Parts: sequence; structure tokens; C-alpha cells
Amino acid sequence: MNPEERTARGRTYLMCPPEHFAVEYAINPWMDTSAPVDAELALKQWQLLRETLVRLGHTVHTLPAQAGLPDMVYAANGAFSVDGVVYGARFRYPQRFAEAAAHRAFYCAGNWRFVEPTEVNEGEGDFAYLPGAYGGLILAGYGFRTAPAAHSEVQEALGRPTISLFLVDPRFYHLDVALAALDDGNIVYYPGAFSDASQRILRQLFPSAVLADEADALAFGLNVVSDGRNVVLNSEASALAAKLRAAGYVPVPVELSELKKGGGSVKCCIAELRP
Ligand code: ARG
Repeated sequence: MNPEERTARGRTYLMCPPEHFAVEYAINPWMDTSAPVDAELALKQWQLLRETLVRLGHTVHTLPAQAGLPDMVYAANGAFSVDGVVYGARFRYPQRFAEAAAHRAFYCAGNWRFVEPTEVNEGEGDFAYLPGAYGGLILAGYGFRTAPAAHSEVQEALGRPTISLFLVDPRFYHLDVALAALDDGNIVYYPGAFSDASQRILRQLFPSAVLADEADALAFGLNVVSDGRNVVLNSEASALAAKLRAAGYVPVPVELSELKKGGGSVKCCIAELRP
């Protein structure tokens, strides 16, 4: 498909500046507490990411950073919203527990119906939404963070069919480092991050998906944010950028070397708000 045929839809996002970002503990294989982080560069790269979204015409809200919560910059994990309803997060690890309340306060101050979760789930880290697939479909990951029981809970909370996908490679511990929505009905994913059965399900549901390889996934190439046309992605994922271009999308590379040290990239830093 030609780029002219792909159309962007204006989005609203929520981001949290990395003012207190650091790698103080290790809860995923990317985090190395002995590797130095350039805090100033992290903030600069984050600001550039934010400006990129604004330049593409999107609205970005900011959640104030809190001291003592070094992973709060990964705003995608704070909740998951569909059509004005928000399913709150409940983090797997105690180091991140308090982030859920900060996100909850943001939604409760606005025009949202907030559903308090009882099951462990890390928001858009493990949930993706395809509004144009089968009338609105939720893809849900489990295996490392989100509890499988949260999948039926989110299905009841948001009233959309929810497909459980089993993540089997610890390097790809969240769904959003293995799979992303490219537009309302199509996805890009790295098959090797999923169990054989889940790979079969993805092939069945998304026969025209863009397929990424291990190198793409290791470059955080799946951790993208797309508006249906422009795909904002980690600049290291240049091979995947070419595949996306060939599929008619417009790759928009950004550098996020510092935030990668916490085990996240573009998508991890951005929660989409679906009012
Ligand atoms: N250090 C964070 C953690 O391990 C990184 C979270 C990345 N976020 C994401 N949506 N994948 O929880």
C-alpha cells in the first residue's frame, strides 16, 4: 500500500517526564543497576519524543513525576482506556505499586469512568486495542507481568472481546515490546515472543500483519506508537522501519538510548487516552 493511502487519526496521549528516572532495581532483563544512566540526556530524549507527537498533530497530557518512582516515566503501564472507560493498573512489583494511584487520580479528575482492578495488570504494557478489528478487539499479554485473570476482568470492564496471548521470552516481558497496533485493524509483532498456540491465533486474526524478527524486537522496534500512518519508533530499529515503509507506513525514528536502560522505549513512555 502507498503511504498516501494510510491515514492518520488525531490521538490524545499521556506522558510522564523522567525527572526521577534511574535504574535502582532490576525487574526485567534489560535493567542493569551497575550501568550508568545519563539523566539529563534521558530528559532531553523524552522531550524530543513529546515534541514529535505534538508536531504530528497529537495532544499530549503530562502526568507530574513523583520522587521515589523511577519507572514512572513508563506511563503506558498506568491504565488502559477504551471509549471513556478506564481499567486501572495493579503492578506486579512493589517498587511500582504507587504509580497506579497517580494514574487513577489523573482519570478521576477528568471525565472518565474508572474501574478499579482486583487482578495484577500493567495497563497498556500488556493490553492493546484494535477499534476496527471485529468491532473492537483487545489483545492481552500474560506470562510475566499481567495475571491471566486480568484478561477476563478487562473484558468485563470494557465490554470488548479479549484475546489472551502467552508471552514466553523474558526479554519481551510485556506485550508492548512484542506487538503493536499500526492502525485500527492491523498489527506488527515478533512471533518468537509468543507461544506456538498464540502465534497461530495471531496468524488467524491478523493475516496481513507486519512481521518483525528477533533483531527488530531486540532494538525495541515493536515498542511503537502509530497514528495509523506515522509510526514513531526507536531509531535503532532501522530494519523494521524499512519493513513498515514497505507496508505503506511512515516511520518516524526517535532516539531513546537512556530509557532503554530501564527496559522500555517509545510505547512504554506513552499511554493512549481513548475518551
Ligand atoms: N522498568 C520498567 C518495568 O520493568 C519498564 C516498563 C516498560 N513499560 C512497558 N510498557 N513495557 O516495569
